Amino acid sequence: MNENYCDLTQTPPSHLQTAVFYEIKDMPRGETATVLFAEDPAITLHSLNLQLRNNLRWEISRTDAGHWLTTIHRAEDVPPVDVFDSLKRDHKRLDAMFSQVIHLTDQNHLVQAHAIMRAFIEGLRKHFAVEHDILAKAIRTPPNAMGVDPTAAMMQEHNEILNQSIMIELSFDEEDATSTSVSPLLAILAGYLSKHEYREEATIFPIWIGAINKAPEAAKAALFQQVLATLAD
Ligand SMILES: [Fe+2]
Ligand SMILES: [Fe+2]
Repeated sequence: MNENYCDLTQTPPSHLQTAVFYEIKDMPRGETATVLFAEDPAITLHSLNLQLRNNLRWEISRTDAGHWLTTIHRAEDVPPVDVFDSLKRDHKRLDAMFSQVIHLTDQNHLVQAHAIMRAFIEGLRKHFAVEHDILAKAIRTPPNAMGVDPTAAMMQEHNEILNQSIMIELSFDEEDATSTSVSPLLAILAGYLSKHEYREEATIFPIWIGAINKAPEAAKAALFQQVLATLAD
């Protein structure tokens, strides 16, 4: 086993999240921690991940003794190189959070799913703040062959995504909320979200990249810092 190995099979459930946190908190980029649990650690890890801004990834396997062996690593081992690298990574980060909501809802862990849904909405707001308040304001996009301005279309889709997300968040709050009542709403948004991100990366990002590439280096660097700060806010 590597030096970051830790056996938590004797740790009481109420202390597990803190124990894992101390195990990984100073873990340098590129390293992994291997942790052994007595029970399925999915809830513990999801909850810790929420606290750590969805910065963790893990793989779980079962040992012959029936324990749960988990390898934990950081989501990103290399810092983003520019504005679009940050935005594409943020798409992936939001997708991963939304998949967690779907997974936890399917498993009937509605309290945890609801918490991640709230964090997802917060993440969406920051992401849209970059795209609306920074990029769309600075760079005009010409109308396409159908006469539609891709930026206006993007903003309309953002409103739709945000409205659907808020509706889902509220539906977790209903007293009679069940996996069956929330899952169909999640499925609709999942499809809409992935189509939107694909369209955005294929149509708007190339126009924005072209415009930013023409800007002086100092302006580019300042914009990059502003984007990083907004996403991290
Ligand atoms: Fe986006
Ligand atoms: Fe978007």
